[in-house]
Amino acid sequence: MRQQIAAANWKMNLTLSEGEQLVKALVHAGIVLKKHQRVLMGVPFPYLVPLQAAVQRVEGFDLMAQNCAATNNGAYTGEVSATMLKSLGIQWTIIGHSERREYQLEGNAVLAQKADRLLENGLKPVFCCGEPLQIREANTHNGYVETQIRESLFHLDEKAMSHVVIAYEPIWAIGTGKTASTEQAQEMHRYIRSVLEKQYGTTLADTIPVLYGGSVKANNASELFGQPDVDGGLVGGASLVADDFTAIIRSLKA
Ligand code: PGA
Repeated sequence: MRQQIAAANWKMNLTLSEGEQLVKALVHAGIVLKKHQRVLMGVPFPYLVPLQAAVQRVEGFDLMAQNCAATNNGAYTGEVSATMLKSLGIQWTIIGHSERREYQLEGNAVLAQKADRLLENGLKPVFCCGEPLQIREANTHNGYVETQIRESLFHLDEKAMSHVVIAYEPIWAIGTGKTASTEQAQEMHRYIRSVLEKQYGTTLADTIPVLYGGSVKANNASELFGQPDVDGGLVGGASLVADDFTAIIRSLKA
């Protein structure tokens, strides 16, 4: 089976001690992951090191950064590079979250550079894509998401692409409590996989996890993750509550 992933995105939430409490609760929840299951904790940069030992105590749990710079080093005040993350032992990073696309004006071209920096440093990108409401209402969401993927990822060769995880997050569903229906999620995930198939062939396309994000909660995770092309989720709000995120992890395909 493809890798099934429950990824937490804390965004800019929690103090360090609140974060430590949350990780402690998850570690003590007695979660035993199967070989094909993985939990990624996307925490703010300053917490990556202090939380590392606690998170890695559970087999299959790993830390994840929420962003990285498009360059490896230099005069870029306030930026954090893939090289730096690698030096901390971090193996996963979100790129292209819709909040960064909107507030930091990150476009498909700069995200292609970020993907390159991560992959050349041996990190795995969790690449976010997804359409705003007006695109969904105009029924042009397939082409919109395809362009995001094509322009940021399709310069990669097969080997590099095999390290990428895609997260489909319809913007109208993020933090709104308005989840995409299971049919809408499955339909888009199937479409994304068909785009990957066209570019890289069925064998590789079949191995790339495509996560769903946007108001994933304890009470809708099983149905969403049960869809054939939904390989887990990228979870914001509900990842901040230990019981909720535990239930979401337990909803991954067994
Ligand atoms: P949400 O956020 O689960 O709070 O909707 C998801 C995300 O932005 O990754």
